[in-house]
Amino acid sequence: MSKATNTKRIALTDLLARKGQEPIVCLTAYTTSISRLIDDHVDLMLVGDSLGMVLYGMDSTLGVTVDMMIAHGKGVMRGSTKACVIVDMPFGSYEESPQVAFRNCSRVMAETRCSGVKLEGGVEMAETISFLVKRGIPVVAHVGLTPQSVHALGGFKAQGKSDEAAESIVEDAKAVAAAGASAVVIEGVVEPLGARITREIDVPTIGIGASPQCDGQILVTEDIIGLFAEFKPKFVKRYAQMDEMITQAVRDYKAEVQTRVFPAPEHCFGYKGPVGHNNPPKDASEDK
Ligand code: KIV
Repeated sequence: MSKATNTKRIALTDLLARKGQEPIVCLTAYTTSISRLIDDHVDLMLVGDSLGMVLYGMDSTLGVTVDMMIAHGKGVMRGSTKACVIVDMPFGSYEESPQVAFRNCSRVMAETRCSGVKLEGGVEMAETISFLVKRGIPVVAHVGLTPQSVHALGGFKAQGKSDEAAESIVEDAKAVAAAGASAVVIEGVVEPLGARITREIDVPTIGIGASPQCDGQILVTEDIIGLFAEFKPKFVKRYAQMDEMITQAVRDYKAEVQTRVFPAPEHCFGYKGPVGHNNPPKDASEDK
């Protein structure tokens, strides 16, 4: 069941033109089914390495591999024809050198056919971003609270609280923008900082726990539909409670199986009614 492919996919360059204009709508997608559901409604889908925590129950994103990102990236691309699809580079796949980053990013791009990659880091990743961009790999950068550095940051905490920390995040954002990043995700920073970075760089900012002034917003889809109930960061708004709906559906199914209400005649092939006193089992030859 593949979608018609006569729509033109949104490119990162289209999003560049949206800076300071209509906000860019972004969500994560990890699977074909979610991708199919949200493709018409978002500008950008991120195959985020948060899938390690959300889908696989890991306690951080550090255990996610390039192979996992490729498998999920392919699945998301199968469900999408319109949105710009960006795939996250997992921890350890790009930090060592621009060359290692190019090898892994080019593999992700070639195997998934996504529109670009995202990687975490600021000033220290600028050289790599420039290397990738010059070789045809569009890059979305990610600054502020960078989950792959959760241990170095001492936990999932808001960043940029002191003047010094705030200046350093501004420097990060400026460095990755100058290196050629097509957009910058700003995560978990004090609000004035998100607004300031948005004013001070020329490429779109995508906020997650950053500021309403960012050029776009992103959240994890499972968070907004209530499918990842373990932990709800302050910046998440729930638009549906799918966890409750699923639990209720399973309870209803269980009750109907236990009382033989399910399956009903319409769910059966050649149903002749319940076997009992007034309805003895038919001779198999009668069915022919
Ligand atoms: O991995 C992820 O989902 C992200 C976010 C920006 C949502 O990086």
